[in-house]
Amino acid sequence: MSRTIFVTTALPYANGSFHIGHIMEYIQADTWVRAMRMAGHTVHFVGADDAHGAPIMLKAEAEGITPQALVARYASERPKYLDGFHVRFDHWHCTDSPENIQLSQDIYRALKAAGFIDSREIEQFYDPVKGMFLPDRYIKGECPRCHAKDQYGDSCEVCSAVYSPTELIEPYSTLTQARPVLRSSEHFFFRLSDPRCVAFLQAWTTDQRADGTPRLQAEVLGKTREWLGTTDGDAANLADWDISRDEPYFGIPIPDAPGKYFYVWLDAPVGYLASLQAYCKKQGLDYDALLAPDGDTEQVHFIGKDIVYFHALFWPAMLKFSGRKTPDMLHVHGFITVSGEKMSKSRGTGISPLRYLDIGMDAEWLRYYIAAKLNAHVEDLDFNPDDFVARVNSDLIGKYVNIASRAATFITRHFDGALAYAGDTDALQAELRACAGQVQADFEAREYGRAIRRIMAQADKINQAFDSAQPWVLAKGIAQADAAQKTALQDICSRALAGFQALSVMLSPVLPALTQRVAQELFGRPQPYAWADAADLPGHINAFKHLMQRVDPALLDALFEPAETPAPLPGGEAIAETIDIKDFSRIDLRIARIVECTAVDGSDKLLRLSLDAGEGRLRQVFSGIKSMYQPEDLAGKLTVLVANLAPRKMRFGVSEGMVLAASHADEKNNPGIYVLEPWEGAQPGMRIH
Ligand code: MSP
Ligand code: ZN
Repeated sequence: MSRTIFVTTALPYANGSFHIGHIMEYIQADTWVRAMRMAGHTVHFVGADDAHGAPIMLKAEAEGITPQALVARYASERPKYLDGFHVRFDHWHCTDSPENIQLSQDIYRALKAAGFIDSREIEQFYDPVKGMFLPDRYIKGECPRCHAKDQYGDSCEVCSAVYSPTELIEPYSTLTQARPVLRSSEHFFFRLSDPRCVAFLQAWTTDQRADGTPRLQAEVLGKTREWLGTTDGDAANLADWDISRDEPYFGIPIPDAPGKYFYVWLDAPVGYLASLQAYCKKQGLDYDALLAPDGDTEQVHFIGKDIVYFHALFWPAMLKFSGRKTPDMLHVHGFITVSGEKMSKSRGTGISPLRYLDIGMDAEWLRYYIAAKLNAHVEDLDFNPDDFVARVNSDLIGKYVNIASRAATFITRHFDGALAYAGDTDALQAELRACAGQVQADFEAREYGRAIRRIMAQADKINQAFDSAQPWVLAKGIAQADAAQKTALQDICSRALAGFQALSVMLSPVLPALTQRVAQELFGRPQPYAWADAADLPGHINAFKHLMQRVDPALLDALFEPAETPAPLPGGEAIAETIDIKDFSRIDLRIARIVECTAVDGSDKLLRLSLDAGEGRLRQVFSGIKSMYQPEDLAGKLTVLVANLAPRKMRFGVSEGMVLAASHADEKNNPGIYVLEPWEGAQPGMRIH
């Protein structure tokens, strides 16, 4: 039976470029969408920028542009990333759009009419200099428990105490440094505590779907049980939700409430609907019919583990009590980490998706790697460079791609591209069909790792059968005009290629571009693959064209290393822009002793230095000076360290600073890099002024 499915990913904040976490989410969703389409289902897959909120407003203000201009700038670079990773949304919209304003206000009015909106006066910190109420994250002060300075308004990073910003000692606004004052204003609340709401959510979270699959993953259900109370009828203690913000705010005006705006998280998920609505308009589809409250369309949201509360409580309740269709499934994923470390935007660690593409890495390597490591649980996924190289080179290329190149060569050379199967083919077709059926089910259940393991096990089988038939021996028989050997060779190669096509079908959701080329170029099929094609026995192939490069591990070094400096002016490097002494003093240069120096396994550029800068601990710094120095040349020497440079995650570990070295402007033609060494008398830890 053909289904209609409405799929979204979380809407990224429009005050930054995509990071690898976004890309991972899009790859997961895009893979699922493709797998469902291959089964003949109709899927509408939409996204949008999440434009509203205080951070975007303040960032735009700091840049001297309107929030709309800031959002437009990030929106304009989205296609480069999405196309680059073969993520194909049907439509990309924006929450700052007429559709979203209309829908958000409609939903609010309906909630209000049904008695779900309350208003009350609340007291909050207000920045008298800036003239605005301060979100918690813009308030700092001394921790009321351990007295650590400069702690955020909601919790202490030193002692982990949780408190409200009004409890901070000596609070200050991070925007103006001013002392905030308490001020009261009227806020609107969505009454999540309403018994109708609690009863609905208890049912919605635990309901089985028509096909018997649960709506929520077990871990997510566990969370909602905590929030909602354990068993039906248990009193839940859900707090009402503050959905209004006072001006100045970049958001959607609340009807009949001058100076009040919806909190960004109210209109953000409505953006899912706005995007679908705009798409329907463009395509001539009937939006209202598509999302009729009792209709058959399945509504599926892919989101990360950090935003479950919004999607499992507020969002279904908002939809339900404004008389709309509620979501059918949440697909919640964990976070991607890089070499075991959390991404941190402030420290600039992690890998940049754009850099990945710019240095010429194949997007489908990443799609494959992520798929191989994803499952249906809310588990974090680690990007590990060595593991990445191994999986792509030994599995994807070594097991899958190689089947085609090995078998196709014989078929082209000896049979002019014709495939022929000797004896019974029912068993072969049944085997391929069964494998594809299981893989299809794995994808639907979001067990991508399991799907990939199954596919690779099938690839192993195909390779083994091929090897044990010893086609290279059979090919020698052809030279001696041995007809039986010729038939056997054609048969084993045909079976391998039929298997290869089936594997290509199964890998289509993950490798859309590669498998499209396989279909078109090798097998001469114009259409992309559907699941049923796995049991198809091809009768002919075209000459084999190279399909996919192996990963050169040096690319992973490049992925983690900073971009090369741009080409210098002829005649040397121009002197940089003038700075004053204050600018200079922001750079903390220290004398450091190179306590230890070692080569870095797997890098022909880097040395690893252990530096003593008088801090009572050693720092690890990676430096691209291997071409000039032996480790033993440097050990024991003094040098200059940039001591307050943000740490940087590299492929081999974190680099905690940089040592100073001189080089020619045109480093490429004129290599040579010379580490600085201070005159005698300087001691580790001394500052350089
Ligand atoms: N704007 C909100 C979502 C509104 S949805 C109506 C938001 N934006 S976000 O840009 O911070 O995050 C967008 C998505 O990226 C979320 O699903 C989030 O979980 C996901 N990720 C953010 N960091 C991530 C990783 N490190 N790994 C995987 N996904 C991550 O939240
Ligand atoms: Zn504390």
